[in-house]
Amino acid sequence: MEYVRLEKEGSIATITIDRPKALNALNLTTLKELKQALAQVVKTADVRAVILTGAGEKAFVAGADIGEMAGYSTSQALSFAQAGHRIMTILEALPVPTIAAVNGFALGGGCELALACDLIYASEKAKLGLPEVSLGVIPGFGGTQRLARLVGRSRAKELIFTGDLIDAARAREYGLVLEVLPPDKLMAHCRDVANKIASRGPSAVAQAKRVIEHGADLTLAAGNEMERQAFALLFGTQDQKEGMKAFVEKRPAAFTGQ
Ligand code: CAA
Repeated sequence: MEYVRLEKEGSIATITIDRPKALNALNLTTLKELKQALAQVVKTADVRAVILTGAGEKAFVAGADIGEMAGYSTSQALSFAQAGHRIMTILEALPVPTIAAVNGFALGGGCELALACDLIYASEKAKLGLPEVSLGVIPGFGGTQRLARLVGRSRAKELIFTGDLIDAARAREYGLVLEVLPPDKLMAHCRDVANKIASRGPSAVAQAKRVIEHGADLTLAAGNEMERQAFALLFGTQDQKEGMKAFVEKRPAAFTGQ
């Protein structure tokens, strides 16, 4: 792949958008490669968490590629938005948690990419925002929906209507990022979180992600029903037997994902 790197260390996969000359902007090739990388992750049985980050010192992802988009017709713009949305949907449907390590600018499509991840951690140097209205358009990779669901409609409207960029500390205050780390500690922190998740029951983590994701769009009663079903289903796994046996025997559990 030209613009996306996929590396695996233990059970943690790291996907790096690697186009630093364009601040890792998402052109069609990068979107295609990102999709390929995610397909590879799905095929790799022992991956337990995925970290997404950007190459270089400056950017996570500075948005969709403006130069490439500038001449789009409405139908091309629709296909481009669909391609972006597909990636975000794949991320949310992955059975393992995804962590955005926001190491610099996360703007437009880059902020939307982070928003589609389960957990977002940012470097002190990061700047986040949805500046699309400055370009005469609106967010096209799910930002209007995911930002509003995460930080509330009012704050999302403020950020999207003004196109303002906010620093990492402000993003944390809004609940957009979970923690702000010194730049040289960001990846280590994300790996620590990923490794902790990797040590838990894989089916349990997958079900927790699924129930939280799907439940967000349901009534409380329907979400609770989904939770009960998933809870019961897990009692058919080896991991549940092992997890509870290990507790009783006062030893760490050795989960296999079965
Ligand atoms: N698309 C294409 N190229 C981009 C880019 C983008 N989104 N962002 C930065 N670049 C390129 C610049 O054109 C520049 O290339 P050259 O060196 O060849 O001129 C290079 O990256 C470095 O950028 P700057 O010189 O602009 O760096 P800076 O430090 O002065 O500014 C910045 C950094 C504030 C992030 C600025 O680059 C910027 O505002 N970028 C655009 C951000 C943006 O508007 N993103 C939203 C895109 S629209 C979108 O994403 C729609 C959607 O929802 C799907």
